[in-house]
Amino acid sequence: MAVRPSLSALDVMRDASVIPVIVLHDVAHAVPLAQALVAGGIRMLEITLRTPQALACMQAIAAEVPEAVVGAGTVRNADDAKAAARAGARFAVSPGYTPTVGQACRDEGLSLLPGVATGSEIMQAQEDGFHQLKFFPAMQAGGLAMLKAWAGPFTDAVFCPTGGVTAQNAPEFLQLPNVVCVGGSWLAPNDLIARGEWAQITELARQSVSLRA
Ligand code: 3PG
Repeated sequence: MAVRPSLSALDVMRDASVIPVIVLHDVAHAVPLAQALVAGGIRMLEITLRTPQALACMQAIAAEVPEAVVGAGTVRNADDAKAAARAGARFAVSPGYTPTVGQACRDEGLSLLPGVATGSEIMQAQEDGFHQLKFFPAMQAGGLAMLKAWAGPFTDAVFCPTGGVTAQNAPEFLQLPNVVCVGGSWLAPNDLIARGEWAQITELARQSVSLRA
């Protein structure tokens, strides 16, 4: 097996201003979607474990779109982390944080962006060595104001706000010093995927490149 260079959570966050949160219901959509996003400049792809097809979709992208970096979203336990790594994922995103998920991702060689929404959760994740965090659900849990407040005590944490982030409000988040990138589902909308409108998805990806001022 080829040796893959290691990928840090910061590498995942810095690659582009947006990590697309992807929900796939049909394996046939996986490769063209990944190719469309890569063509628009987005390589880090979070495929959520929310459908029975998610693992097969990861496998297909890992095998057929070498420019893409497959990530697993909605990782909630050690079994999810193991299955994602076996399917070719190189990073994981979790909606919350437990030390079990943190350790499982380490064991599987997956970079993890753990989800946090409170100071206690940040402290727990940092205690376990995770300093690059997903702020989820960002808009519902306090949005910009919360991130500004966290910049005081948590000087060594950076965030990927996700949940309610859109092309319209992303620039405000990306201006904050403790935000490296944002996450969102708007780059891979269900209706465009269902209709196979790949060129439109490439265009959405291209537009996301200019979100960071
Ligand atoms: C996620 O699953 O991480 C978020 O639900 C994505 O949120 P959005 O659909 O509001 O972008």
